[in-house]
Amino acid sequence: MKEKILVTGGAGYIGSHTTVELQTAGYEVVIVDNLSNSNEEVIDGIARVSDSRPAFEKVDCTDKAAMDGVFKKHAGIKGIIHFAASKAVGESVEKPLLYYRNNIVSLVNLLELMPAHKVDGIVFSSSCTVYGQPNPKDLPVTETAPILPATSPYGNTKQIDEEIIRDTIHAGVPFKSIILRYFNPIGAHPTAEIGELPNGVPQNLIPYLTQTAIGIRKELSVFGNDYSTPDGSCIRDFINVVDLAKAHVIAIERMLNNKSKAPLEYFNLGTGRGVSVLELINTFEKATGVPVPHKIVARREGDIEQIWANPHYANEVLGWKATETLEDTLKSAWAWQQKLRERGIM
Ligand code: NAD
Ligand code: WQD
Repeated sequence: MKEKILVTGGAGYIGSHTTVELQTAGYEVVIVDNLSNSNEEVIDGIARVSDSRPAFEKVDCTDKAAMDGVFKKHAGIKGIIHFAASKAVGESVEKPLLYYRNNIVSLVNLLELMPAHKVDGIVFSSSCTVYGQPNPKDLPVTETAPILPATSPYGNTKQIDEEIIRDTIHAGVPFKSIILRYFNPIGAHPTAEIGELPNGVPQNLIPYLTQTAIGIRKELSVFGNDYSTPDGSCIRDFINVVDLAKAHVIAIERMLNNKSKAPLEYFNLGTGRGVSVLELINTFEKATGVPVPHKIVARREGDIEQIWANPHYANEVLGWKATETLEDTLKSAWAWQQKLRERGIM
């Protein structure tokens, strides 16, 4: 068995897939999740996929004393992957303090507790949202692209969290960090045992699309076809969630085995391919044979016109590359949606 890793937010979408990959790679995982955006059955799904059950603590990361208790109870945690956060952009505009408290206090607590518990490093979930709308000449975006003012409190928490980690490492703490900037994670585990469980009406494209395909929603609204892109709809870099999860295992190995080039490193995690919203719908229909009723509506406020990653640095330095095709990824999202129906969840 390899080192013990604390995965905060491990019952969530990306955290559950990452726990599977960590366990498959031989790591011992302790999940902390307050289940604010997930449920405990996800732990059963993880156990079914990886033949091993992670330890699970229903604890809120903003509760420092409780987090201290987790480190004591599971003595010997060597690394942390910090997923736990609130992530709905729209909700963050309505409830900024909830976002600032949750996303910032959780991180500060972990950083304060790490030295006392001799934790060697923390991998942090950041987002391409820190780049805002890059200048077209900067596309695809590299890690050195300018960080633009955040357009939502959620985006701002990611920028502030990155700065908190930077300043803490700069002050010479005895641990390392790797900041991973995800582009648009989509899809589900190929077993359809775990996937994305959106709360209420989905705000993100893929869950809305699969819910439309299965008949829960009448039609998908495409937000704008008058952008300066080849077909007028927005362009994103859709990355398979299992590919994304695997990058975390590599990041943990790198940090814990002293392979990092610097105490703090940043990596873009994307495919390097920009796909438009209309192209994505078309690919889904072709890959699954299921039609997606959709209509063009007005632009969504605050949307970025186009962004996709230059993943070269992650490819070269981490030796990681997104390998799943968009077709297979969309099929996995569809299989997951069907599984939710089978289980009577939606
Ligand atoms: P998710 O909501 O599915 O998972 C987050 C998990 O954290 C949930 O299970 C939730 O219950 C838990 N949680 C939230 N606050 C907590 C707290 N205070 N204490 C303990 N548990 C808490 O989200 P996700 O899509 O898996 O995202 C994981 C991380 O990746 C987040 O930090 C998110 O901001 C970041 N991220 C996500 C995306 C995306 O599109 N999904 C893109 C870029 C970055
Ligand atoms: C993708 C595209 C929409 C829904 C958000 C966060 C970002 C990051 C990832 C965490 C856009 C279009 C969507 C719909 C549509 N999360 N769309 N109809 O906006 O790229 O990024 O999630 O860090 O911070 O902002 O993702 O899935 O919402 O939208 O046409 O019903 O799909 O306009 O062009 P987005 P998304």
